[in-house]
Amino acid sequence: MRDRGRCVLRVVGLCVAAVAATLLGACGGGAGSEGAQTVAAQPPSLHDDIETCASCHETIHAAWQMSRHAQSWTSETFRVASDNYRKEECLPCHAPDMIQKTGLANEPLLRDGYRSDGVTCIVCHQDAASDEWKMHGPYEADSPAHETVQNDSYLTPDVCASCHGHDAEFNQYHSWQDGTYGQQDFPCQACHMPQTEALLADTEVEKPLRWVGDHSFPGSHDDEYLKTAAKVKLKVEDGALVVEVQNQAGHFFPGGAFRTAVVDIIVDGVEVGRLEYSYENENQLESGETVTLRHELMEGAAEATARLTYYKYVVNEPGTGLVQSEVGFVIDESSLTL
Ligand code: HEC
Ligand code: HEC
Ligand code: HEC
Ligand code: HEC
Ligand code: HEC
Repeated sequence: MRDRGRCVLRVVGLCVAAVAATLLGACGGGAGSEGAQTVAAQPPSLHDDIETCASCHETIHAAWQMSRHAQSWTSETFRVASDNYRKEECLPCHAPDMIQKTGLANEPLLRDGYRSDGVTCIVCHQDAASDEWKMHGPYEADSPAHETVQNDSYLTPDVCASCHGHDAEFNQYHSWQDGTYGQQDFPCQACHMPQTEALLADTEVEKPLRWVGDHSFPGSHDDEYLKTAAKVKLKVEDGALVVEVQNQAGHFFPGGAFRTAVVDIIVDGVEVGRLEYSYENENQLESGETVTLRHELMEGAAEATARLTYYKYVVNEPGTGLVQSEVGFVIDESSLTL
């Protein structure tokens, strides 16, 4: 299997070189030259192809490499939380086979090898029923290296639900579906794959510019992005301090397990209240929800602050699992002179 995978890489590698040299020509997706027939005869491998995809889709590949999808197997948090990969039930979404094998929105199967590659291009795009390279995507596109299938589902959360819609700890899909964004069909991609106008492939073949989604999938590991997650507001009502925390994410906040959102209420430099929201506490904020907290003010209080901080879990001492990080990221803060 591995050798055959290498063979695909080699032949397609030649194909890439040929594209560069002749700007298209002999490499059209199957018919024609012997080399192309060899490509067509090989089932897509799950590993070496990531480098092959990168040879033409350099920009998308560079973004993907920065994503958590690229680290879903190798990340220290996963290694430790899965008890060094011993917990079998944890493995399928972190080293998945092609999602089209089980069908979009259904949980994927665990793949046989190359697990450290994580959630790759092939996992999300390859047509599992085909033994040729056949990439599903949102466009009617024409590639010298592979067939393409225009598939509107790639613009919907069905693609994401395969892995983000099953295990309760890592389930953004259901709270999205039940919430304000889901009801307006405002998809995951609109927030997590912001688009820019660019080429789909960085080849010399002349192609129109199209809208390309950011494959670095910004989420809670991106501080700038995290700032958009929630807001805190402060006001005084009938002698009490009123703190409002508004969830602006597309789903539960925090969006998954191993994260805690903490609201600190501080009056004249002294902490007078602290609330923690998390999957573990069973009190994540629903999509669109605003929680209101009240604190009775003492006479003469001069200044109040409410601060919202987001803590991720990190690896503790070897062998002892994950713990909440000591330093969090301040998402929002609001102060008021009383
Ligand atoms: C020889 C260069 C080349 C290689 C190698 C290559 N692609 Fe492409 N790919 C293209 C071109 C060219 C297009 C179409 C661009 C256009 O029409 O604007 C394309 C289009 C696509 C599309 C869009 C499909 C659609 O219908 O929206 C996807 C997805 C895709 N490629 C994924 C991959 C993956 C995954 C790999 C690795 C297995 C890969 N490509 C390897 C050149 C390549
Ligand atoms: C149904 C698919 C699925 C299964 C099964 C699954 N995960 Fe995940 N896991 C995800 C998704 C999706 C994310 C990213 C979303 C999130 O963080 O909520 C994730 C994120 C994580 C993270 C966070 C990584 C970080 O540092 O941000 C850890 C740790 C983790 N999973 C461990 C596990 C463990 C341990 C198990 C088994 C008990 C498991 N996963 C089973 C899909 C899955
Ligand atoms: C084949 C499984 C799979 C599919 C399909 C998938 N994801 Fe993921 N995703 C994961 C896993 C596993 C992680 C966690 C990686 C880690 O941190 O260890 C993850 C992480 C993420 C993160 C990063 C979260 C963070 O902690 O910063 C975002 C954002 C994300 N996915 C969005 C999406 C969106 C949007 C889609 C659909 C377009 C999607 N994913 C499709 C498996 C998948
Ligand atoms: C977690 C699933 C996932 C992974 C991994 C993934 N893609 Fe995509 N890809 C998508 C989705 C969803 C879209 C549609 C995004 C949109 O336009 O809203 C897409 C779109 C595309 C497109 C069409 C342009 C666009 O953004 O619409 C190309 C080309 C492409 N991907 C190539 C790749 C390559 C190459 C890799 C690996 C380096 C890769 N993808 C990895 C889910 C994925
Ligand atoms: C309105 C924008 C928006 C939409 C729509 C949206 N998200 Fe998010 N998402 C966010 C924000 C902001 C965060 C960061 C805060 C958090 O943890 O909730 C986030 C966090 C995440 C995370 C990281 C969770 C964690 O625990 O670290 C994942 C994974 C994710 N989203 C996946 C999805 C998926 C899958 C969908 C569609 C079903 C989706 N998102 C829809 C804004 C959005």
